[in-house]
Amino acid sequence: MKITILTYLDSEDENSKEYDPVVPQVARTLRRLGHRVSVLGVHGDVKRLIAGLSRRRPELVFNLMEMFGDNVFGDIPVTGLLELLGVRYTGSGPGELYLSQDKGLTKKLLAFENILYPRYAVFSREAAFETGGNLRMPLFVKPLRSDASLGIGGKSLVHDAVALMERVAVIHRELEDSALAEEYIEGREFYVGVLGNAQPKALPPVEVDFTGFPEGVPKVMDSKAKWDERSKEYKGTRSVVASLPDELRARLQKVAVDAYRALRVRDYGRVDLRLTETGEIYVLEVNASCYLEKSSEFAMAAAASGLDYPRLVERIVNLAAERFERKR
Ligand SMILES: Nc1ncnc2c1ncn2[C@@H]1O[C@H](COP(=O)(O)OP(=O)(O)OP(=O)(O)O)[C@@H](O)[C@H]1O
Ligand SMILES: [Mg+2]
Repeated sequence: MKITILTYLDSEDENSKEYDPVVPQVARTLRRLGHRVSVLGVHGDVKRLIAGLSRRRPELVFNLMEMFGDNVFGDIPVTGLLELLGVRYTGSGPGELYLSQDKGLTKKLLAFENILYPRYAVFSREAAFETGGNLRMPLFVKPLRSDASLGIGGKSLVHDAVALMERVAVIHRELEDSALAEEYIEGREFYVGVLGNAQPKALPPVEVDFTGFPEGVPKVMDSKAKWDERSKEYKGTRSVVASLPDELRARLQKVAVDAYRALRVRDYGRVDLRLTETGEIYVLEVNASCYLEKSSEFAMAAAASGLDYPRLVERIVNLAAERFERKR
């Protein structure tokens, strides 16, 4: 197949080859699988995006676009544009991406399916807050829509109203996003990858091992733990394929598939969960079109289920292609 990998470029220079490591990994893999591959990296120029696609005329776009220019939610309109251009692409579309990025809307859909989620309140920048409820402190405050643990750190866990309002103000100001305050779920953390459309299947759960985490700090995957390789938080955590009793594994996988379906995720995604001491499973968030880097939790889980990286990439291509065939 003639496939174009669509990706975000940090720099405005379209000849920059400084791609996110996932881009060359997927490109190499697709080539090895026998596809004709090109990479289209764009920053924030929609004309270049359209011209690049018109020139390449791909049969499928492998969509790795996470933002567009300064717009961190730019992946949504980009998929909308692909729809308008009639280009086939992997992963979720604008509607699905919107639903899973808004962690408040996500919870409303989960509620209808009786899936547990932390109780929450949204503090919008434009309006008075959406849901109050009688939330129990401590609360975890994070941006409503941003991902990659942006705005999540040592001060995210708040124990009183003053700290809550301070944190809300910081998120409004620094991230230009609404703030989401939700009940803090103490417990083990799992990531469950899901693949498929008509019959989505969960991959083996991956657990975050917090054993080496510094004492006295809440055990959460904040921005340090995810990205700051020199921090105690980064060094103190690692993701491992969980060895679990069959019954618990099955329960985690069922919740993940239910959440994936509730959010109408397409092709692939990852559900982030917490398990309490009393055995309740809470959905923290759903990541449609999650990160596909070779050492990501998703790829790790796929490998544990017998899908090595080439098979995983091929599966995503096939799921997308089949979806468009059915539509025709
Ligand atoms: N309600 C909560 N209770 C306990 N911990 C939480 C809660 N919400 C978030 N966390 C912690 O913060 C981390 C990041 O939260 P979340 O997954 O919602 O953010 P994100 O920035 O969208 O992450 P991702 O990089 O996975 O897209 C979680 O992995 C978890 O460790
Ligand atoms: Mg997450």
